Amino acid sequence: MRYNPFRPNNIVGPGMFVGRLDELHTVEQCLFQTKHGNPQHFLIEGERGIGKSSLLFITEHIARGTIPATRDNNNMKFLTISVDMGRVTSQIDIVRIIARQFKASMSEREALKQSAKAVWEFLSRWEVLGVRYYGEEEPDPEDARDELTNQIVDLLAGPNCEIEGIFIVIDEADRPGEDARLGEFLKLFTERLTRRDCNSVLIGLAGLPTTIAKLRASHESSPRLLEVMRLEPLTLDERKAGSSTRISRSGRKEWV
Ligand SMILES: Nc1ncnc2c1ncn2[C@@H]1O[C@H](COP(=O)(O)OP(=O)(O)O)[C@@H](O)[C@H]1O
Ligand SMILES: [Mg+2]
Repeated sequence: MRYNPFRPNNIVGPGMFVGRLDELHTVEQCLFQTKHGNPQHFLIEGERGIGKSSLLFITEHIARGTIPATRDNNNMKFLTISVDMGRVTSQIDIVRIIARQFKASMSEREALKQSAKAVWEFLSRWEVLGVRYYGEEEPDPEDARDELTNQIVDLLAGPNCEIEGIFIVIDEADRPGEDARLGEFLKLFTERLTRRDCNSVLIGLAGLPTTIAKLRASHESSPRLLEVMRLEPLTLDERKAGSSTRISRSGRKEWV
């Protein structure tokens, strides 16, 4: 019988991360395909405390290039947008939380802000980013979703775009209630990207094993967008082998 030795709610950083090599290879393959214009979105599902957020956190580092990939000599250059659906209750919340993080990630990259000035300026003054509106002031969620998509398309289509793609990381994907329609968001957002010929956006979700059913209730075909990885507890060997599979910023040799 395997057991889960970890404490929940305490994401592990690159220095302590062990195991999960199969899952990391799969995510790297998804990123690689995205870089080449054929994104394969994915869902990491598993029980609470099993290591979903920690795995997402590492993949985000790999995508950004702040740690090397396990099987590629070139560090990746994705813009990452990392959000948590924990407190989302409506479609406009989903758009807003992604848009805000999009702006925050862009703000860390001076060159990108310069090369995609119009996108940066739009995000800087976009009302949907502001405090929550109520009643008639609430922006239309469909318009807001389309606008978010447009900005992403414009950024990636820019002439001097220095990034290889955008990686949107959505944690706690089981949490939004039915009203938020996360499955519908995923379906319509990815369809619009494809229609606009924008094929270098990857979405990676994590959530409890109930996630797929919830997405399906929101939009029947949305689960078909996703490759599903089911996380099992780390084996005793993986935990023991921790010291030999440790990642460090100093180099990939430690991935053995
Ligand atoms: N691959 C890993 N290597 C080392 N520690 C891990 C790993 N995955 C998870 N942990 C530890 O397990 C705990 C729970 O992980 P977390 O990623 O928060 O799980 P989840 O998001 O599935 O609830 C954390 O304390 C974290 O430090
Ligand atoms: Mg988590």
